[in-house]
Amino acid sequence: MILVTGGAGFIGANFVLDWLASCDEPVVNLDKLTYAGNLGNLAAVRNDARHLFVQGDICDGGLVSSLLDRHRPRAIVHFAAESHVDRSIHAPEDFIATNVNGTFSLLEAARAHVSRLPSGEQSVFRFLHVSTDEVYGSLNPGDPAFTENKAYAPNSPYSASKAASDHLVRAYHHTYGLATLTGNCSNNYGPRQFPEKLIPLMIANALDGKPMPVYGDGGNVRDWLYVGDHCAAIRRVLEAGRPGETYNIGGWNEKTNLEVVHTLCDILDSLAPAQESYRRQIRFVQDRPGHDRRYAIDARKIERELGWRPAESFETGIRKTVRWYLDHQDWVKDIQSGAYLQWVEKNYGERPAVAG
Ligand code: NAD
Ligand code: DAU
Repeated sequence: MILVTGGAGFIGANFVLDWLASCDEPVVNLDKLTYAGNLGNLAAVRNDARHLFVQGDICDGGLVSSLLDRHRPRAIVHFAAESHVDRSIHAPEDFIATNVNGTFSLLEAARAHVSRLPSGEQSVFRFLHVSTDEVYGSLNPGDPAFTENKAYAPNSPYSASKAASDHLVRAYHHTYGLATLTGNCSNNYGPRQFPEKLIPLMIANALDGKPMPVYGDGGNVRDWLYVGDHCAAIRRVLEAGRPGETYNIGGWNEKTNLEVVHTLCDILDSLAPAQESYRRQIRFVQDRPGHDRRYAIDARKIERELGWRPAESFETGIRKTVRWYLDHQDWVKDIQSGAYLQWVEKNYGERPAVAG
């Protein structure tokens, strides 16, 4: 049994689906179902006895402790977070509450839980923290990619809150000996990403005939990794990562935002041709305040130590992704209309299990 937090969001849901497809070990999935949580993402495992969904807040230490006592998971895989940089600029409070206090609450519950386990189980337990490359700050063109030794320099309220959570995780290993593992990953893309993020937003706006808003000059660079590859990396770190270590995870795929948007337009032009090229909908708009210019991940440590490498190239992954959004336009429409928020009532008739 493992305990996953945030498993109704983009990466967490992909992780739960991949996990249950590849092994029989059950998952307890604790998610608050904020605007970013979508139980429709987990429809395929709705009746799977290996998946127990619990709606709840990671800040609720009593709830987390009761789940740990009841299910005795061998690991916590911690995805739950407020994840959108633009929202953190407009309203940072929730980012501090969930990303900092929520991670603290989980660590406290895990520490107390492990201290009560027999020594055989204590040595097996792992706390895997899912984090971001944004904690390292911004690179200039030509700077070397981020290694695990790069000093932290977070620039947005989101990245500062994730940096704080990374430091807490590090401290719980150093001070209390909790067997922590941290993955700092670059930009994920793929199925089930909330359409506030660059790639699904651009696809949705293109298909709706709306402007495609590119911030600033479109020259900001991100490293892109297919979500399935991130999930595989997390499984590998959980399996063989060394407690107390951090692993940078990336796709060796640096692209400017404009390159990404042009690629999306070109794929859409071939798969869903409109009267004119989708490129005509691109608009340059006011830049994001404090917008980091470039991120780049040096993923040699995880490749060398754990033998993980991305399976998907950007070219194959992005085509697969566009195809998924074309085949799941109802999924996007449900989010745009807010209907996805009623998924639970519609499909369960009542709220899902809440452990007390
Ligand atoms: P997301 O916003 O799609 O999903 C977050 C999930 O966490 C949602 O289901 C939400 O309901 C849940 N959640 C939020 N607050 C909660 C709380 N207080 N208690 C319980 N559940 C709560 O996020 P994502 O893009 O899937 O990111 C998942 C994790 O991966 C985050 O920690 C993020 O920082 C990290 N990360 C994301 C990316 C990326 O490109 N998306 C890259 C690197 C790291
Ligand atoms: O690097 C990892 C991070 O990647 C994760 O930690 C975050 O949770 C995740 O949201 C993502 O952060 P970004 O800010 O890089 O992702 P976003 O999709 O919001 O933006 C990607 C780039 O595209 C960024 O340079 C801003 C730009 N952008 C974004 C949007 C939404 C636009 O030009 N226009 C847009 O409308």
